[in-house]
Amino acid sequence: MSDSTIDNLDTTLNAQVTEPLKFAYWVPNVSGGLVTSTIEQRTDWGYDYNVKLAQTAENNGFEYALSQIRYMASYGADHQHEATSFSLALALATERLKVIAAVHPGLWQPAVLSKWLATADHLTKGRIAVNVVSGWLKDEFTSMGEPWLEHDERYRRSDEFIRVLREAWTAGEGGAEFSGDFYRVHGFDLKPKPVDVPGRPHPEIFQGGNSTAARRNGGRVSDWYFSNGKDYAGFTEQVEEVLGHAKTAQRLQPVRFGLNGFMIARDDEKEARDTLREIIEKANKPAVEGFRDAVQQAGNSTGDKRGMWADSSFSDLVQYNDGFKTQFIGTPEQIADRAIEYKRRGANLLLLGFLHFQEEVEYFGKNVLPIIREKEAELAGRELQLTTV
Ligand SMILES: Cc1cc2nc3c(=O)[nH]c(=O)nc-3n(C[C@H](O)[C@H](O)[C@H](O)COP(=O)(O)O)c2cc1C
Repeated sequence: MSDSTIDNLDTTLNAQVTEPLKFAYWVPNVSGGLVTSTIEQRTDWGYDYNVKLAQTAENNGFEYALSQIRYMASYGADHQHEATSFSLALALATERLKVIAAVHPGLWQPAVLSKWLATADHLTKGRIAVNVVSGWLKDEFTSMGEPWLEHDERYRRSDEFIRVLREAWTAGEGGAEFSGDFYRVHGFDLKPKPVDVPGRPHPEIFQGGNSTAARRNGGRVSDWYFSNGKDYAGFTEQVEEVLGHAKTAQRLQPVRFGLNGFMIARDDEKEARDTLREIIEKANKPAVEGFRDAVQQAGNSTGDKRGMWADSSFSDLVQYNDGFKTQFIGTPEQIADRAIEYKRRGANLLLLGFLHFQEEVEYFGKNVLPIIREKEAELAGRELQLTTV
């Protein structure tokens, strides 16, 4: 591997210290909220609520909004708005927020999606991004008459899918060329290309998936690797493995890391902990158990049986992306300390979910974010001292 490649990767890691942490929130475009519990959730999955939330979020420190994709009722989510159209609507209702839409390879044709996103990028002046998810809900595929591939085959398809997107957006004269096992494009000449945004070669490509196959794809082809909720050791282990794949692939563009966490920030730690206890006590048991069975089915065909939810308990799964494991639960000061530790371990972005989105996004901007920024400045100062000694 050339030195310039290694330097680029090292720069990525250093960037964590000097660049401010970024924040994304889960768009509640699916009914039932972010926890599968009968606890009161003052959150609504509808359009009007979400427009107001998006506007509030961009004024409270959030740079990104991630829309989920679910196509049909499943485990507590009876209604859902589709992710690409919903994301576009939120971007058009805001001024700075970048929107990330989740898509499934196997249900989208990548060249068609590259076109859809290029147009959306122009409509939003460079604020569209995509989260490539390989899927866990077999019924979604089979009910649409599409084959449900074995786990690692789904990821081989996702790898090709991402390469086609990038090729379509960046190909020069003569158009895009790609020949794979799942996708082929020949002389596909995309005009216009996405908007020219300084520092962004094309719309950003996130990846949601954490198994061994997912880590390989994260390191090889994604711009961003999204981790499910994790404790410190679990997060570090993923960062190291993904960066290892990035080095092996000799990629020149950095891979960045986003980490999911369900945030319960309260003035009083006890109140925050009691809220978590109540969420779990009031879990919708059949829905959580049904979800657990579905994701285990999805993860079982991995070569090493290490799907994303392999080590999740019933309580963990009440937040279906393991968001309690990150432990953003307590006072603003306590949460800020954890955020900084995750930053030190490689996080570039925190992806946050809340019980009562509208009011808690405001609370975050007013009470948690300023402390994180203070502690980040201290951290950067300490690192600078170390490098100049
Ligand atoms: C941050 C994040 C967001 C995700 N969003 C979606 C989604 O919107 N729709 C979906 O079907 N799966 C979503 N997934 C799940 C992935 O599609 C995949 O099923 C999951 O990561 C399990 O696969 P794995 O065991 O290979 O990691 C998401 C995963 C992560 C980490």
